[in-house]
Amino acid sequence: MCGIVAYVGPKDAAPILLEGLQRLEYRGYDSAGVVVSNKGLKMRKVKGRVADLAAAVPARFKGTLGIGHTRWATHGAPSDVNAHPHLSADERIAVVHNGIIENADELRAKLEADGAVFLSETDSEVLSHLIARTVEEADSLEEAVRGALKRVVGTYGIAVIDAQRPGEVVVARNGSPIVLGIGEKEMFAASDVAALVRYTRQVVHLEDGELAVLRADGFHTFASDARETAKEPLTVDWDAGHYDTGGYEHYLLKEISEQPETVARTLRGRLDDRFHIAHLGGLNMDARETRSFRRVKIIGCGSAYYSGQIGAQLIEELARIPADAEPASEFRYRSPVVEPDTLYVAISQSGETYDTLAAVQELKRKGGRVLGIVNTVGSAIAREVDGGLYLHAGPEVSVASTKAFTSTAVAFALLALHLGRVRDLSPADGRRVCEGLRALPGQIKEILALEPQIKELAGKYADSPSMMFVGRVRGYPVAREGAQKLKEISYVHAEAYPASELKHGPLALIGPEMPTVAIVPDDELLDKNLTTLGEIRARGGRVLMVGHRTADPKLADDCLVVPRNEIELDPILLSIPLQLFAYHAAVALGRDVDKPRNLAKSVTVE
Ligand code: F6R
Repeated sequence: MCGIVAYVGPKDAAPILLEGLQRLEYRGYDSAGVVVSNKGLKMRKVKGRVADLAAAVPARFKGTLGIGHTRWATHGAPSDVNAHPHLSADERIAVVHNGIIENADELRAKLEADGAVFLSETDSEVLSHLIARTVEEADSLEEAVRGALKRVVGTYGIAVIDAQRPGEVVVARNGSPIVLGIGEKEMFAASDVAALVRYTRQVVHLEDGELAVLRADGFHTFASDARETAKEPLTVDWDAGHYDTGGYEHYLLKEISEQPETVARTLRGRLDDRFHIAHLGGLNMDARETRSFRRVKIIGCGSAYYSGQIGAQLIEELARIPADAEPASEFRYRSPVVEPDTLYVAISQSGETYDTLAAVQELKRKGGRVLGIVNTVGSAIAREVDGGLYLHAGPEVSVASTKAFTSTAVAFALLALHLGRVRDLSPADGRRVCEGLRALPGQIKEILALEPQIKELAGKYADSPSMMFVGRVRGYPVAREGAQKLKEISYVHAEAYPASELKHGPLALIGPEMPTVAIVPDDELLDKNLTTLGEIRARGGRVLMVGHRTADPKLADDCLVVPRNEIELDPILLSIPLQLFAYHAAVALGRDVDKPRNLAKSVTVE
């Protein structure tokens, strides 16, 4: 998704902007641009990589104020002209924009009728023209920006500079994140803290409808009605090192390999060995309230939704509360019935996924009690919910989610333990779950040690045109996530089905060309799963079984054996070999592992 960086201070802006844009590359983009102010605006923008932009920026591109952008095309193809920034006709105003302006066609028609000449096909260019119309008479740049934004319908995160006010940047947010970074006699802004952490750890998140004016000596924030707002800076505990590959070939492999520590961090300080409970102070609920819920509804998108399915199963099993998960992107559109005795849980690694945020806002409007399971501290979803748990997994840079997925499942185990122990979960079962959770980091290390075997298997199956993933009950979300990982990074078509559903249709696909990855834990459904394997093999299908034991060669061609934990927690461990399988399949096929085509790290548009 698009990225924004802005700087004002004593230093040369261009290197800071370019470095910031590089830090945002992981989010996905197709073109990039920068503009600096120094006796007029100097701009460069290119289709392609930030490295191409850096090469196009001349040595004499001086200026201590500037804005930059990485674009992910929505309106108009990726091209030099469609890249941001966009200038006004008189080259006085420059704008970068994330989000979508829904009434852009209407505004454009009006501006064109009024003599404006548009250079690009983007929706964003209307902003530079609109601001330029009023900046002359306005008392300040922020007044002109505010006036322009009043005419806009849609979502935006923007940064604006005015050649005639070379000491200030105006930024504004509505549905698309903007974070301010506070430096020593310098100010930064960006759409993601990743672009800021090299320079400062003191940040301020803008709320929807807010606008900020940045000058080298500080900042002011304003609500949409122009009233000044008071903001407390937050200290981020992620530093620039978190955004390096740390010697790994890809961020994805680094993040998969970090899971013993990231899972330990999600658990840290939250398990109580005396009462076998989980300490989750961030939920902001007392025991009476915690007991009052009769249902749990979990929402999230993509892999976050699949981890929510694992979470629903954990809550039903451990707390005996009916629970289910639904894609947030669907939930928000179907006018859901919001019940007072339902606990809603929204999941998001980034905390900025627009569909999930909009679903949370809809729930709040209808009086729903919403918890968040979020990785990014201070993100929009974290700010919107009534309470929740942070994952503490550190920034996830690779587009495909791995460590956030497992940490979310672990967070759900904690939540299930918490909900269970104020209900009927016995101390003995509480202890069993606590011990299982404590064993996870060590067991993940054992799974990571299987990498050479997994790599070999990935090489063996990677040339299949299509793969089937199956699992039953606890294994089904694992299968879904396994298929998701494989398809998004290797582009191998993959389908996930409950194993029980195979004979109701998809069995017709099974044959030598369609291998199956079967999730077969040693649980009460083992025999049923083995029967399914027999059915697949009888149709000539190859089988890779992922579970706790090796199978008769009549049932599986290959077996990947992972350590056992408690049956409720096994899905967390079973997911990890599938991440490595997808990773090595993608590498074998020569894919762009960290930035798969057409995808963005955090989807901040509808
Ligand atoms: C898949 C993946 C996506 C995200 C989804 C939600 O590997 O990363 O499916 O899980 O876009 O993102 P967050 O968790 O940031 O809300």
